[in-house]
Amino acid sequence: MSDNYQSFAHNPIGKFLVKNLGLPNPPFLERWSAGDPLVKGTVLVGAATGSTLGPSLTAALKADGITSTTVAAPTKKYKGLVFDATGIDSAEGLIALQEFFTPVLRNLASCGRIVVVGGAVDEATTEGATIAQRALEGFTRSLGKEVGAGSTVNLVYVSKGAEKALASTLGFFLSPKSAYVSAQVIRVGATGIITAPAVKDLQKPLAGKIALVTGASRGLGEADMRTLARDGATVIGLDVPPLQDDLKALAEELGGDFIVGDITADDAPAIIAAHIKKHHGAVDILVHNAGITRDKRLRNMKAENWQLVVDISVGAPQRITDHLLDQKLINQGGLVVGIASIAGIAGNNGQTNYASAKAGVIGWIQSLADRAAQDGIRANVIAPGFMETEMVQTIPLGLREAGRRMNSMSQGGLPVDVAEAIAWMANPGSAAVSGNVIGVNGQMLIGAS
Ligand SMILES: NC(=O)c1ccc[n+]([C@@H]2O[C@H](COP(=O)([O-])OP(=O)(O)OC[C@H]3O[C@@H](n4cnc5c(N)ncnc54)[C@H](O)[C@@H]3O)[C@@H](O)[C@H]2O)c1
Repeated sequence: MSDNYQSFAHNPIGKFLVKNLGLPNPPFLERWSAGDPLVKGTVLVGAATGSTLGPSLTAALKADGITSTTVAAPTKKYKGLVFDATGIDSAEGLIALQEFFTPVLRNLASCGRIVVVGGAVDEATTEGATIAQRALEGFTRSLGKEVGAGSTVNLVYVSKGAEKALASTLGFFLSPKSAYVSAQVIRVGATGIITAPAVKDLQKPLAGKIALVTGASRGLGEADMRTLARDGATVIGLDVPPLQDDLKALAEELGGDFIVGDITADDAPAIIAAHIKKHHGAVDILVHNAGITRDKRLRNMKAENWQLVVDISVGAPQRITDHLLDQKLINQGGLVVGIASIAGIAGNNGQTNYASAKAGVIGWIQSLADRAAQDGIRANVIAPGFMETEMVQTIPLGLREAGRRMNSMSQGGLPVDVAEAIAWMANPGSAAVSGNVIGVNGQMLIGAS
């Protein structure tokens, strides 16, 4: 779906009006294409005094094939800035952020990437360290709103022991794969899984993995299928009977498989389990993408529309996942992804049913991440913001245009942006990424992000 306003804002008349009327100015975002290096340019790495992650960061960048330096050259443009803030242990020490970033921010290339790395706040051993590490969130979210030009700022908290499990996460947040992900807080090692294997083939990290995506025939689900297949996974799409033809065509195009059915049906868990067992043995990646909206203010809400939205978003995914876990049909190292929404975090007028369901997804996945960690299975949430799919075409025009522009990128995200985030989570190198809630929303300007 093309963004006509974005094209207009980049033609000569549009540029003039945007500048003089202070209108939103959506930059063209760089996105990754198969065969590209992860980062086209150099990443500058800095550290606060007393920080300990230097060798791990260098090793991770090397494993990703990313060129890095620790010496800033005044006239050079950097595609990324990484700052190890783990050593900051007092409020006064936070000045290290200003000392590193202020002189080099003008050297950040367009669509540049900033990653701040901290230590897990709940592992801080002094009050000063707790203050400083928690402060990194405010810093990250504010800088995200400042950088502009399609650049992003994200914060990675690293738990003790997980220092060697950073390559996949750094690779994602420094590359164009994270084009629409900004102001997020990522916790590596938070659920106690602290190791991750080295990934040899950066182009096909999911080779040999089996992925099931629900709601797969269009929108975000279709992009998930394409991106997971691009990265080497065998994909199984599931969708409802009316979309059977599209689903079949997509699965065939990707050399994958498909299941036709409604996830809320009583026999859905058994049918899915039987299909997986018979044709694939088990799955490694389970993406609960299917979702619908039935928007009405609560005073006009019909019980059946409440029930349907909640069951499709969280009830059915929970039943299906539990059945697959009981039947041991999710492999060790596997990943369950719940799709929430910014509405589940910030709330939305006319969406009490949808926002309840999507907040419920977050609760469910975080509980699952704790309970499944002992089996080496991970669970994470993606909370999309305004993504350009058919779902958002039902929003009234004015509201739709506001939703599209009210983020740091001044534009809606593309389905591939969610898919790239899922592919990062599914990467074996992300084995220590569990229990996370990642917004793919261009950094919302109002409410939570
Ligand atoms: N598009 C956005 O801006 C946005 C924002 C936040 C969250 N999300 C979430 O992302 C997910 C995908 O959204 P989308 O925009 O691609 O929507 P979409 O309407 O384009 O696609 C949803 C898919 O889910 C399938 N589906 C619906 N009910 C089903 C059921 N009972 N059983 C099996 N399949 C079913 C549909 O047939 C469809 O293929 C949803 O969970 C949605 O809530 C989307």
